[in-house]
Amino acid sequence: MNTQLDFLVIGGGIAGLSFALKAAEKGTVGIITKDDAKESNTSYAQGGIAGVWNEPDSIDKHIADTLDAGAGLNNKTIVEIVVREAKDRINELIEWGTQFDKNASGAYDLAKEGGHSDNRILHHKDITGKEIIRALFSAIQKHPNIKILQHHFAIDIITQHHLGIKITRKDSGVETYGAYVLNKKTKEINTVLAKNVIMATGGAGLAYKVTTNPLIATGDGIAMAYRAKAEVRDMEFVQFHPTSLHNPGSFPSFLVSEAVRGFGAVLKDQDGKEFMNKYDERGSLAPRDIVARSIDAEMKIHGVDFMYLDCTNLNMKKFKAHFPNIYTKCKSLGIDPAFDFIPVVPAAHYTCGGIVVDEHGQSSIKGLYAIGECACTGLHGANRLASNSLLEAIVFSHRAFLKASEIISEETIAVNVPQWDASGTEAPEEMVLITQSQREVQGIMSSYVGIVRSDLRLKRAIERLEILYREVEELYEKTTPSQKLCETRNLINIAYLIIKFASNRKESIGLHYSLDYSK
Ligand code: FAD
Ligand code: SIN
Repeated sequence: MNTQLDFLVIGGGIAGLSFALKAAEKGTVGIITKDDAKESNTSYAQGGIAGVWNEPDSIDKHIADTLDAGAGLNNKTIVEIVVREAKDRINELIEWGTQFDKNASGAYDLAKEGGHSDNRILHHKDITGKEIIRALFSAIQKHPNIKILQHHFAIDIITQHHLGIKITRKDSGVETYGAYVLNKKTKEINTVLAKNVIMATGGAGLAYKVTTNPLIATGDGIAMAYRAKAEVRDMEFVQFHPTSLHNPGSFPSFLVSEAVRGFGAVLKDQDGKEFMNKYDERGSLAPRDIVARSIDAEMKIHGVDFMYLDCTNLNMKKFKAHFPNIYTKCKSLGIDPAFDFIPVVPAAHYTCGGIVVDEHGQSSIKGLYAIGECACTGLHGANRLASNSLLEAIVFSHRAFLKASEIISEETIAVNVPQWDASGTEAPEEMVLITQSQREVQGIMSSYVGIVRSDLRLKRAIERLEILYREVEELYEKTTPSQKLCETRNLINIAYLIIKFASNRKESIGLHYSLDYSK
């Protein structure tokens, strides 16, 4: 890889790829992905992308729904920006080749999901993310200025710290010069210098045992930025998707899109009775935090591990056309949605918090931008509205591109940056210790920092996490970095941030629900 770049993009989901396509018109771009290039949360997105398309929907309604879901903790200016810019950015996805489904009259088939007061979700069947990634990759592959390096793992971003200058969280002059990147095949750690680093590393679902996120979602970008002293916020707001398919032993948990409820499916208990109206007048289509908490409560009342989604009264011909992936998955497990209820259970799904950025995607570290799920723009507040995530990613990749390209000519590549210092480290004695530590983090977070929390549970969580933290830091000091070790370290960092932010919030709001502060 050219180790001197104008733009180093860490991450190949919708955020990183859409940024790269634009930035490549202004300079050299390197994209690194830690796994196969197409393995990202984006590739698993089902329901679609929200955007006001035509009347009777309106910008005001989408803004109101986003604020309502976010319990008013959203940044209103950002909500307005994202909702207003949605159509232009979605049109760009279409120009790059994304095919969104249309109805018989040739208009876009706009779906509905929880918390939306109108039909405004553009989708490609129930595999919207896969289709977006297909289109973006085919555009990227034609671009001579973009180099993609898959199976390259970013360990840390480079700052003054690596030049031997002490920096603290209070310093405002921290800047980044690039990143140390592990080539997983050669095991070398490269120094990649760049004028701008664009963090597009996605979420952190792997902090929990049950998650819809694929293995890549270990919160690396948030942890790297936090270690580099960037401001991080809203980490207590971990979104659990209400309806992942209950299929113990499978990983990741297969999602049964909220759009299925938008299509008319209803949640039922073990006796076949609807229960959501007890909790919210919007029933099965209430915002996610409410539905996930209600399912959790019902599972506890009934002493069971799952609830049901009833699709049996739906038009199956249309259901199969819209949700072929979900239909096929259910059938493969012997569940026929036409006749059987689908067993569902909440699963960790989305990280609302992350690296704090301004309206141009700029973090508190000079030269570091954050876009997509790893960023905290203020759009989501205490709970993300369904299908606002893909939207946020493309709006902010555009804004970050505008800002970064405006100032790129004034920026220089840093000199005198040292190579990675591997002295005093050796290969790990037993990988199983690392694997086990990761499982323990997931166990702590699932037992004590899930959908329902309390001060006591959070105290227990932090005490147990501290032991793991010490063990893994000790291991890290003496071991040559491997992806697994770095990811485990990052997950411990993420868990710490979630617990710390949760402990500081003395109220129940949105996705943070505490027994000590419930009404
Ligand atoms: P991702 O798409 O997750 O990409 C992250 C990239 O970063 C990957 O390429 C990964 O390899 C790379 N990376 C991470 N760490 C490192 C590292 N250390 N070094 C190198 N590379 C690294 N949202 C919606 O709006 N609508 C939906 O319908 C929807 N459905 C969803 C369904 C599922 C099952 C899931 C899991 C999520 C869904 N979401 C949906 C959420 C949405 O998909 C994600 O928030 C969004 O795709 C995140 O995009 P991203 O570009 O920020 O990150
Ligand atoms: C879904 O299809 O239910 C996921 C939508 C989202 O997470 O925004």
